[in-house]
Amino acid sequence: MCGIFAYNGTKNSIPLLVDGLRTLEYRGYDSAGVVGINDTGEIFVQKAVGKVSNLATKVDGSLGNSKVYTTGIAHTRWATHGTVTELNTHPHSSSKERFYVVHNGIIENYKELKKELEKKYTFYSDTDTEVIVKLIEEHYEEDLKKTLEKVTKFLTGAYSVAVIDRENPGTILGIKLWSPLVVGASEDGVFISSDVNALSKVASNYVMLEDDEMVIIQDKKYQIYTAGNLIERESQEMDIEYGIDDMGIFSSHTEKEIHDIPTVLENVFSGRVNFGEKTIYNETLEELAEHEIERIEIISSGSSYYAGMIGSYFFKSLAGISVQVTSGSEFLADELLPDTKTLYVFLSQSGETADTRESLKIVKEKWCLTFGIVNVVGSTISRLADMWLYSHAGVEVGVASTKNVIAQIAVLLMMAVSLGQKRNLQHSKARTLIEELEWLGDNISEVLLNAPKIREIAKKYAKHKSMFVLGRNMFFPVAGEASLKCKELSYIHTEAYSMGELKHGPLALVQPDFPCIVFNPAGKFYTKTVSNIQEIRAREGTVLGYVTKWEELGDLYDDIIEIPNTSEILSIFTSLTASYLFALYIAEELERDVDKPKNLAKSVTVE
Ligand code: F6R
Repeated sequence: MCGIFAYNGTKNSIPLLVDGLRTLEYRGYDSAGVVGINDTGEIFVQKAVGKVSNLATKVDGSLGNSKVYTTGIAHTRWATHGTVTELNTHPHSSSKERFYVVHNGIIENYKELKKELEKKYTFYSDTDTEVIVKLIEEHYEEDLKKTLEKVTKFLTGAYSVAVIDRENPGTILGIKLWSPLVVGASEDGVFISSDVNALSKVASNYVMLEDDEMVIIQDKKYQIYTAGNLIERESQEMDIEYGIDDMGIFSSHTEKEIHDIPTVLENVFSGRVNFGEKTIYNETLEELAEHEIERIEIISSGSSYYAGMIGSYFFKSLAGISVQVTSGSEFLADELLPDTKTLYVFLSQSGETADTRESLKIVKEKWCLTFGIVNVVGSTISRLADMWLYSHAGVEVGVASTKNVIAQIAVLLMMAVSLGQKRNLQHSKARTLIEELEWLGDNISEVLLNAPKIREIAKKYAKHKSMFVLGRNMFFPVAGEASLKCKELSYIHTEAYSMGELKHGPLALVQPDFPCIVFNPAGKFYTKTVSNIQEIRAREGTVLGYVTKWEELGDLYDDIIEIPNTSEILSIFTSLTASYLFALYIAEELERDVDKPKNLAKSVTVE
C-alpha cells in the first residue's frame, strides 16, 4: 500500500525512479510523484493523478536532457488520507520547499499533530504525510539525522519514509516502523525501495531494514543506524530475478495468471508430494508434525481469509484438528487467549499485509508457535514466523489474487494430509487423495478449455446490479471468494451466503430475474443444495450452477458451468478456477481495468 523508491548516485535519478515505481505500482495507483535534486540544489518535481504511466508521460514532456538530478525520491499512492488529487500526491514538501518526504503507512495521531502545527504552518494537502515534513521543518537544527530521530518520536502508527534536503543535495534519509523498506546498492549508486523486486534489475546487493532502523545515503554509500548508533549489517547478494512475464496471448495479466494455475500447482507439489509413493514429504511439514498441536487458528485477510476458511475444512476432516479462522483485522480487535498447543497459521500472498503481520507479532510475543504461508519470498511474514512454506505461485501481477489463492489452498491441503498421516487419517484415504492430486492440473486445464462458454454466460450476468453467491460446507468459503472476486473485478454487488442460511432471511431478495450463483458439485450436500435451489426457483430467481459434469440436471438451472467429475475436495479447485474466469469476463464485459481494479492494492500495509 503505497510504494517508495529513492536513488542517490551518478546517474539521473528521475528515469530510474519512474521505472522503480512501475514495479511498485501494485502497491497503489491512485497517483504518483517524483522529486529530484541536482548538485546545486535545483529541483525537478512532477506529479500525476492515476497510474505511473501518467507520471511517466508528464516526466517525458518536461525533464529535458540538460540537467542531471543525481538524488531523488518517488512515490506511488494508494489514498488513505485525502482524495485522489495532485495536491495530495507525494512527495510532500515543507513550507519553503526545502525538505521533501515520501511515506508509506498511516500516522494515526496526525490530526493532533496537525492541529498544533497549524498554529504556525499552512497545510496544502489533507494527507497525514504532510505532518511529517512540517514536523521536520519545525524541529530541524542543522542535523537531519537527529531531526528525524526526534520527529519519529512524535509519530504513532506505521511508516517507512524517505527524506531529502535541498540544502544537502546528495543525501537521502530513510526510516521505518512496521512498513517495509529495503536498501539496494550498485556501482552507480544506492536505492531505497518498498520491496526488493523493484531493486532486482538495478542493485547487486540489498539489505532489509528492521523496525526503527535508519539509513543514511550519501555519495553512493549507505550507513544503517539503530537508536542513533551505527550498526554493521551484511548485505545479501541480489538473487531475485523479477520479470513481469508478458501476457502472451492473453488480454490481461489476470487472465494469464488464471491460465497459469496448472503450472502453479505443479510448482506447489514439486519436491513436496511424492506421487510415485503417494506420500507427502517435506521437511518443514515433518518438523511441524513433531509439535503437539491440539488446535489451529488461521489468520489472514481478503482472499487469503477465504483460502484459510477452505483450509479449515481440510484440517478438521483429514487431521481431526479443530480450527478457527479469523481475519487479521478482527484478530487484532479481539483479545488473544494464548495457547501453546495451538498452531497459529498466517496466510498472505504479499507477506506484508498489516492486519496479518501485526497479528503474527502479537502471537509471537506470547511465545506461541507460528507458521507462515506466503508467496513473496523474503517478505516480512516469512521472516517473522517460526516456520513457513512458500505458496510458489510465482509473481502475481494482477492486483486481485487468483493463482496464489489456489496455491495457498493446495499448501493447506498438503499440510492437513501431512498432519493427518501422523494422526487418524486412513492410509488408503490419504493415498487416494494424493493420487487424485496428480491429475488436478489436468482437471483445471479442462476447466480452462471451457473459457469461451464461461465468457458467454458471464456476458449475460454482467447486466445485473446484485447477485447472491451460495454454497454449503467447504463451498461456502468458495462462494465467499468467488463473490469477492466478482465485487473487486467488476464492481457488481455480490453477496455470499451459506446455502442453508438463505431461507433464514435473504430469500426475501429473490424475485424474478434475481441471480443466484450456486456451487453444487457432486458430494455430501448435493441433495440438500438441490432442495434449496428449488426454493429459489419457486420464487422465480435465476440460477447459475457450478456443477459436476455427469449431473442429471433437468430444468434446475438457468445456466451451468460444468466442472470435471472429481472428488469433492478437488472440485474446490476446479470450481474456484471457473469462478475466476466468470468474474474476469463480467469485468471485461463492463470494460473494467481487470489488472488494476479500483481501490485495491496488492500489498495492504495499513491497518
Ligand atoms: C483479493 C485481494 C485482497 C488480498 C488481501 C490480503 O483478490 O487481492 O483481498 O487477498 O489484501 O492480501 P495478502 O494475501 O497479501 O495478505
